[in-house]
Amino acid sequence: MSDKNIRNEKMEAIVSLAKRRGFIYQGSEIYGGMAGMYDFGPYGVELLNNIKAAWWRDNIQRRENYFGLDSAMFKDPRVWDASGHTTGFADPLSECKKCNTRIRVDKVLESIGVTADEKMSEERLNNLFNENKSKIKCPNCGANDFTPVRAFNLLVKTNMGNFTDDENERPVYLPGEACQGIYLNFKNVVDTTRAKVPFGIGQIGKAFRNEISPRNFLFRCREFEQADTQYFVRPHENKEAYEKIKQDRWDWYVKMGIKPENLRWKQHENLVFYASDAWDIEYNYPSYGFDEMEGIHDRTDYDLTQHSKFSGVDLSYKDPNTGEKYIPWILETSAGLGRMFLAFMSDAYEEQDLGNGEKRTVLKLSYDLAPIKYAIFPLLKNRPELVAKAREVYEMMKERVNCEWDDNGNIGKRYRRQDEIGTPYCVVIDFETLENNTVTIRDRDTTEQKRLKIDEL
Ligand code: GAP
Repeated sequence: MSDKNIRNEKMEAIVSLAKRRGFIYQGSEIYGGMAGMYDFGPYGVELLNNIKAAWWRDNIQRRENYFGLDSAMFKDPRVWDASGHTTGFADPLSECKKCNTRIRVDKVLESIGVTADEKMSEERLNNLFNENKSKIKCPNCGANDFTPVRAFNLLVKTNMGNFTDDENERPVYLPGEACQGIYLNFKNVVDTTRAKVPFGIGQIGKAFRNEISPRNFLFRCREFEQADTQYFVRPHENKEAYEKIKQDRWDWYVKMGIKPENLRWKQHENLVFYASDAWDIEYNYPSYGFDEMEGIHDRTDYDLTQHSKFSGVDLSYKDPNTGEKYIPWILETSAGLGRMFLAFMSDAYEEQDLGNGEKRTVLKLSYDLAPIKYAIFPLLKNRPELVAKAREVYEMMKERVNCEWDDNGNIGKRYRRQDEIGTPYCVVIDFETLENNTVTIRDRDTTEQKRLKIDEL
């Protein structure tokens, strides 16, 4: 079997585990599913929340000069004019003339080995598309007849606040990126905290994009979450800070348990309209290989200058010591939570041959990220004295950490279930517990068991 097949198998196994064990469900599944939408199930939401909490703790709370924010999703439509999204936030689209299936041209070109990306001009993409058309087939009907490439704007429109049913009324957009709320509140944060440049503002927020072809599970969705920091520096004092920020973000993934060999840097050749330099941290996803997990962008003074211009409010910063006034430059980190989620799951996923014809699947998530920290089992569920004692332990433990009760099936099966969802410790209450208040505790990674006093748990 080729390496690619093995990797595909791994992705299929992860997708299947995610569904089977209640991590991820297809959005609107009972209505046939909605493309590019996913719901996080009971274990998924725990893992997602743990990723967010770890990110927030390390990137905001543990840094003296970073401040948190949670801005409203709906914004004045002029925000997206100022940011450049109403005009420049587009992907190249073409449509099959036979069955109307839409394709994202840069991705289709890439898939046949032609270097292309969405930041190329419409003309250049049309030329590339025409030169290579003979090799491109509609993924749905196989036909080879396409409309010319056009830039398709990705912003999602709503009728928020429009009670007229008039379609010509200016739409309010859902956020195309989460970071805009940070720029809008730059002055508020400076005026209401002791923030002094250089300082950062962080936010976790939803973003919506009318992706032409959502694909690869959580990788390219139409609704997703971003964890962003924007670091404000004096003009031209960007380079050193940028390098440090890049290094910090790399180190964070490694600290959180991602294997360094599954990470790599990629510098953008074609820059988006707001960036003067841009690097991605790529993760080696099973099945499609290295691809972007987080973008780190040097945005110069673009954002605050644009919002000053469009809002009429001066967003320059006055240095309290020197009186110097300037528009700060911005260094951005922006990570998709779904892509992080998938990377953490993939990195932690292992299938082990136990040597006796049995296999176990284990998610070796760090304790911090594991959805359930301890699973508590009575050895037998038909012995009331064991069940009562086990419930006592469970009630005590769940006050401290997220625990799960399981008395279903034999102990071996219960261990396997917990391994699959990444629970670091399983605690068994047995007959010895009734005698001396000790329990067995089993380590997920080594599968070793030892006896501990209940107080020592
Ligand atoms: N504010 C900068 C910004 O939004 P981006 O490179 O477009 O930059 C940042 O997005 C991150 O958001 C990406 O690195 C990726 O992790 C995530 N992301 C972008 N589009 C996505 C999509 N359609 N589905 C899931 N995640 C996405």
